[in-house]
Amino acid sequence: MSDLDNLLASREMVLVAGSGGVGKTTIAAAMGIAAAQRQKGKILVLTVDPARRLATALGLEEVGNTPVRIKPAVFKQAGVKVRGQLWVAMLDTKAGWDELIRRHAPDDEVRDAVLANPLYQNITSRFVHSHDYLAMEQLHDLHATGEFDLVIVDTPPSRNALSILDAPGRMVDFFGSRLLRWLTVPYRSRLFTVASKPFYQVADRVLGSRFLQDIAEFFVLFQAMESGFVKRARSVEALLADARTAFVVVTTLETAPSHEARFLAQELLKRNMTLGAIVANRVLPNELAGAAAADSAEALRYRSGRKLAESLAAQLDDAPVAVVDTVLTQLAERFDDVALVAARETERRAELASLSPVMLDVPWLAGDIHDIAGLGGLVDRLRVDLTEI
Ligand SMILES: Nc1ncnc2c1ncn2[C@@H]1O[C@H](COP(=O)(O)OP(=O)(O)O)[C@@H](O)[C@H]1O
Ligand SMILES: [Mg+2]
Repeated sequence: MSDLDNLLASREMVLVAGSGGVGKTTIAAAMGIAAAQRQKGKILVLTVDPARRLATALGLEEVGNTPVRIKPAVFKQAGVKVRGQLWVAMLDTKAGWDELIRRHAPDDEVRDAVLANPLYQNITSRFVHSHDYLAMEQLHDLHATGEFDLVIVDTPPSRNALSILDAPGRMVDFFGSRLLRWLTVPYRSRLFTVASKPFYQVADRVLGSRFLQDIAEFFVLFQAMESGFVKRARSVEALLADARTAFVVVTTLETAPSHEARFLAQELLKRNMTLGAIVANRVLPNELAGAAAADSAEALRYRSGRKLAESLAAQLDDAPVAVVDTVLTQLAERFDDVALVAARETERRAELASLSPVMLDVPWLAGDIHDIAGLGGLVDRLRVDLTEI
């Protein structure tokens, strides 16, 4: 069994984390397919921001918080054989928040008041980190139902990949924060009517009537849900550190993402969370850094010429010979730059590999990876045992 299959078979939850744009959503979807190929049972990919074409390919257009199954016919058509069922759900922040409020509200009155509060509707979509928290929440929920044998979570794009690890703690901190106390105390206390009245009056004139009252009211209501939220955030936190959960850190081998990936991997270890694998995505082929590649570039540089260009042009649907000649010469000339990048990538890859029990590589795939067949190709790459290369 490949490292990838081992990882997917031995966990119940896999969280795919990393910097923005490195390929988390793509890798999460590919891992879902990989699991469905090898395992019976129900596999769920909870995704966040699938590219439009990927969403279409997965039949995800109308998907929200509720998981839907990818039809077997879709796999058949793509020539991908599966044993298990692949389900997908998409993180819906608004619905997620409403659900949380319904769950934690002490009574119907508070629930309805929060849901109807004009600020609530506005604020939930703007909490920068609320996506992170909700993704973790939903993971907790889905796991608790026991409906799925494996849940793979694509994590939200955020400035900092660590932010998902901190999301539950941040929720707890928020309830204990001075900000919340500051926002709610004046409204609650009797002083509100006397001492803060002029302030509220002025504020109302500037910001529109009831603006500050809405804010205060909202946070007072929110505070009524503290114990539920805090308890829940704690169990979400525990789930992240659970032995059944593993993280997969996705990165490219460019400077900034690799740095972030290294940091994330170290942080996971520090927090006793399980790092299942690091995936280096969109990498240059290793061979480019080797001597053989340099030799062939050298040969191309000296031996390319009219003759080579002519024979190649004939194979390229009769492309103009002069153009092909120029392309070849340029390629040979610039090879050193490419080799340099490849050499750097090799170093970064080695650094990352020393932090993780499993290191997987996916090259730049030129073809379409926005459909099931394309993702199937990506899965094959993830299964390649690198020690055998
Ligand atoms: N190995 C790869 N080769 C070529 N393109 C890729 C590869 N992996 C991902 N991509 C493309 O890169 C873009 C970003 O990927 P995505 O999975 O959405 O990243 P993230 O979720 O981390 O923001 C997408 O257009 C995706 O199709
Ligand atoms: Mg994404």
